[in-house]
Amino acid sequence: MSAAEVPLEAQREVIGVVGVGWVGLVTAACFASRGHDVWAMDVDATKVESLSRGRLTIHEPGLPELVAEHAERLHFTTSMEVLANARLLFCCVDTPPTYSGDADLSRVRSVVDQLSGDSEQALVMKSTVPSGTGQSIRRDLPSLAYVSCPEFLKEGSAVDDFLNPDRVVIGADTGDEWAADAVAAIYEPLGGELVRTDVASAEMIKLASNAFLATKISFINEIANVCEEVGADVTEVARGMGLDQRIGRSFLNAGIGYGGSCFPKDVSALKQLAGNSGYHFQLLNSVIEVNELQKRRVIGKLTKHLGSLVGKRIALLGLAFKPNTDDMREASSLVLSARLQGEGASVAAYDPVAHEGAAGLLPSIELASSAEAALQGADAAILVTEWPEFADLDWASLAGAMSRPLILDGRNFLDPEALRAAGFSYEGIGRGSTGRARD
Ligand code: UDX
Repeated sequence: MSAAEVPLEAQREVIGVVGVGWVGLVTAACFASRGHDVWAMDVDATKVESLSRGRLTIHEPGLPELVAEHAERLHFTTSMEVLANARLLFCCVDTPPTYSGDADLSRVRSVVDQLSGDSEQALVMKSTVPSGTGQSIRRDLPSLAYVSCPEFLKEGSAVDDFLNPDRVVIGADTGDEWAADAVAAIYEPLGGELVRTDVASAEMIKLASNAFLATKISFINEIANVCEEVGADVTEVARGMGLDQRIGRSFLNAGIGYGGSCFPKDVSALKQLAGNSGYHFQLLNSVIEVNELQKRRVIGKLTKHLGSLVGKRIALLGLAFKPNTDDMREASSLVLSARLQGEGASVAAYDPVAHEGAAGLLPSIELASSAEAALQGADAAILVTEWPEFADLDWASLAGAMSRPLILDGRNFLDPEALRAAGFSYEGIGRGSTGRARD
């Protein structure tokens, strides 16, 4: 269905968004781009002020253009009251992990506490919450309709993911069908399969999806570690495995572990959710442990080449948890830097966009002005984040600028043949000596 064919009522839906972090801002901008009037609320006055002037608070490709283009339909506010006009209130506040590993629902609770329970309004939960949260909110505010509509966008391709979803999950319980219909109507024009289900199942779909993807990554990382023992190449193994449609090629890139604001938190939240209700989710314990160890294995590889790391200069290429984002949450670079410094090395790093976020988290590393500056005089380079520009560096001249031309490719991103031809000792993750560039 094209935008012009969308029922008029759905086109004109006034939408409220609470919390303008990654998910909230993308949701607000994308719905505005589809013709809806959007009121986006956040408690952070500085953020609201900055967004109202068109200055974005995150690095996300395509988002500044979308916000600028649809500014007349996009209103930022610190006031919850102005959201009273919207039938659908999308809750997009964050649910970070607590010390116990459970999801911290305090921000969700504070949104709920500010709602009047207007029977004409629906709370549409985009924040990732444990199964059972919807039921408990519904108990506290019985007149308010409640829809679980988890978000699956990925940072770095968030706008595209939002506007072209694989599927849209809409969970509602008896009595709230009107709200589920309203949510379905505004998503329908985006395409993607609509999965209508109950609230608890919708909540579980989100947690189970992220836990499964994290499991895929930890699985391929363990395969990579075995490949190193037996002389196989994990990129070849993933290629061969991925052609089986039951397996699929995506999320089989071995590396130095997953990070970000979702996988670590959601895997832990699901493990705790199961544990709190008496079920020991054994598999997820291993997924988490493998991921933690994977970040540290790099140190062993370095010492194999360099011996003691005391006084060595190690260059990190990339700091963000993945390319096309400045997000440093749970980035592998954090553990890696701390371990390198713990071994007595000095760390110089370059990331195209993450320096501002990294400065506070990694105060004792050198943030270099370019990849070349980070690599100057280094005893080894570790590719941490596969920013496309790192493939285009003049590696032959960089080999001469380093103290020792050694590269550990933590994302199997670079072309081993080209690096070796440029004079480097190249080591990837789980690759034999003939490793191919990653698919
Ligand atoms: C993830 C989910 O993909 C998304 O659906 C959900 O809404 C939020 O969490 P995101 O955290 O933005 O999205 O990043 P994603 O692209 O999924 O990557 C997560 C981490 O896994 C990154 O650190 C990435 O480097 C790592 N990864 C991913 C691998 O190590 N190997 C892979 O094959 C894929």
